[in-house]
Amino acid sequence: MRFETFVLERQQSIWENKVDYNLSESGVHPGSLNSLFDKKFVDKINNTELTYGFTEGSLNLRKAIADIYDKTNPDNVQVFNGSAEANMVACLTLLEPGDEMIYMVPNYLQIQGFSKGLGVDVKPFYLHESLNWKPQLDEIKNLVSSKTKMICICNPNNPTGSVLSKNMVFEIGDIARQAGAWILADEVYRGAELSGEECTSFWDIGYDRTIVNCGLSKAYGLPGLRLGWSIANEDYIQNAWATHDYTSIAVGRLSDAIATHVLQRTNRKKILTATRTTLRKNLDLFQKWLDHCPGRFRFIPPEAGAMAFVYYEFDINSTKLVEKVRDEVSVMLVAGDWYGMDRYIRFGYGAKQDDLKVALDRIDRVFNTL
Ligand SMILES: Cc1ncc(COP(=O)(O)O)c(C=O)c1O
Repeated sequence: MRFETFVLERQQSIWENKVDYNLSESGVHPGSLNSLFDKKFVDKINNTELTYGFTEGSLNLRKAIADIYDKTNPDNVQVFNGSAEANMVACLTLLEPGDEMIYMVPNYLQIQGFSKGLGVDVKPFYLHESLNWKPQLDEIKNLVSSKTKMICICNPNNPTGSVLSKNMVFEIGDIARQAGAWILADEVYRGAELSGEECTSFWDIGYDRTIVNCGLSKAYGLPGLRLGWSIANEDYIQNAWATHDYTSIAVGRLSDAIATHVLQRTNRKKILTATRTTLRKNLDLFQKWLDHCPGRFRFIPPEAGAMAFVYYEFDINSTKLVEKVRDEVSVMLVAGDWYGMDRYIRFGYGAKQDDLKVALDRIDRVFNTL
């Protein structure tokens, strides 16, 4: 089993803690325990014994997660170390060499790279910039065959921030149902919609072979907790729990306790409202920055997430451009190349606003020389 390099994560691993300003993130800037929670709760965390946790996630946490979705109970929930682990476990649990997967592109390429390493045949379907980064559903229909084991969706999408309409979600559900294929929906950006309205979850289509993966890293701004989950039918959850015994046993005890608190209905609402307020303000600042250099960029604003996926007119390769920005002004960006899409850059605009302003000024200094 050989895994291709996961270029985006590798680059972040090397550089994100070395640069002055990290605009390679796709979530809002995280806070500390003291800044986010009251003293009573922080004391509770301070006094929690660091035993192993619950390998499926504590019942209270699974109840809080189930409460986010319709017609869901804790037996439909497995808790993971980030949605990345939820994605990995789904592949390990369901896929075999020679299986066929239909995969949304562009995308966070974890599932594609991991599945290829497992010997899966990955067939892309595309989001089109001319359609505001939406798909042509006929493309999916034409790719599906009797060998299709899984259709993989990232909604809201990384890197474009586009969101599928409710109709599209249901239509993709129908395509999967007719093929008897699994749907693996990575919904880690759900909750970070700029409109304030939570997008339709693939869970809502009511199709038994659906796995919805999500977590606290993006919309909730808590990536350091490494907390994610899968929602699926009870049989799949039992199988995923058994696979998880091999991967990381359990999530951290403290992460489970903090996540349970964060996902209580009123707390969740408060956190997501704060995220959206930050995103709207920062996107406004970012859009003004783009607008002051007309002719340089083409940009469809995101509907969700702290990512702006921008086409640029400069005559330079995207990896070279982000390296130049990183080396000359110590700001990290994401190259379109890392998504297989040269001439695009992904700007993470979820940073603290003062940092975002300084980072954009610094980027300007480089762009003005091109
Ligand atoms: C679409 C998508 N899925 C999963 C992940 C991994 O997130 P987590 O921190 O929840 O493991 C990311 C991270 O950028 C992502 O963009």
